[in-house]
Amino acid sequence: MSHTRVLTGITTTGIPHLGNYVGAVRPAITASQASGEESFLFLADYHGIIKCHDPEQIHRSTLAVAATWLACGLDPERITFYRQSDIPEIPELTWIFNCVCAKGLMNRAHAYKAAVDANVAEGNNDPNHGVSMGLFSYPVLMAADILMFNATHIPVGRDQIQHVEMARDIAGRFNHRYRELFVLPEAVVDDDVALLTGLDGRKMSKSYGNTIALFEEEKALRKQIMKIVTNSQAPGEPKDPDESTIFEIYRAFAGEAEQAEMRARYAAGIGWGEAKQALFERINAELGEPRERFRELTANPARIEDILQAGAAKARKHARPFLDEIRDAVGIRKLG
Ligand code: ADP
Ligand code: TRP
Repeated sequence: MSHTRVLTGITTTGIPHLGNYVGAVRPAITASQASGEESFLFLADYHGIIKCHDPEQIHRSTLAVAATWLACGLDPERITFYRQSDIPEIPELTWIFNCVCAKGLMNRAHAYKAAVDANVAEGNNDPNHGVSMGLFSYPVLMAADILMFNATHIPVGRDQIQHVEMARDIAGRFNHRYRELFVLPEAVVDDDVALLTGLDGRKMSKSYGNTIALFEEEKALRKQIMKIVTNSQAPGEPKDPDESTIFEIYRAFAGEAEQAEMRARYAAGIGWGEAKQALFERINAELGEPRERFRELTANPARIEDILQAGAAKARKHARPFLDEIRDAVGIRKLG
């Protein structure tokens, strides 16, 4: 099989921030517009409920993530855009894979090992404290997401490479035990994307609560930018742009010429307040229009629901007949 099929999932547990935009949304949309490849992009809400147990947060995040991708230019006609939980074939395939996947493979999964290590470090006498079966077998669900569509290329962050390798392992075992039905997928990691720092100087992440939300209203965006931590250099003192979070975020939005000009202003001693104002203006210029589209979309969730339903129908055109083949391969078929 020589097709190229790109697939990736977005867990629906948070409200998208500038880091998600620069590191995931913008490059994925640019890639999907540029290439003629088949792409699948979905909202991984079954993954969301593994760690987030607040139903309102899951629901709000699903809407915000869908609206973000659409507002940023994702074309649901061109790619297959759907919500994981609208594809009942995925959890069914997950079960079949649970019966193929070695438990020992899951024992080695990073997310599970990290939870066990944290319990041990805290002196908890149950190393599995707080570990649900969902967390333990998270990579099996992810394998079903990928293999259900025989995707070949899986754009992910570094932390997800292991999961894609586990999907390959599961595909290989199935093919060996039953029939060659699955393509072995490959992780694609883009090392060029900027990794944005958050308000407090650590990596911008919803887990650290140090994010700048992508589609805040203009005033709130400015206020958040003003909170970026800086050193105590005074206006007039030359500053090193490469040591500054403000410049780092600026770079992710500005062209070469603007960057050079800003570097010169740092050398000439721009004040931090002024640098923040320039950053705000640059981001606001890029995000103004999509923010307006985001506002319109979130005000009309029924329209997003329709788009997702159309995407699910498109996805199930592949999933349903393929699952029938898979069921047949394991011996689940009509009696007469
Ligand atoms: P978070 O760390 O906020 O929980 P996720 O792990 O859900 O974010 O990441 C979703 C996507 O956004 C991934 O592709 C990830 O690589 C990207 N991403 C997350 N944080 C950043 C960041 N600070 N800079 C660049 N990309 C990021
Ligand atoms: N686990 C991924 C993450 O947290 C999201 C995801 C779920 C995914 N299923 C996927 C990514 C399938 C790629 C392919 O980022």
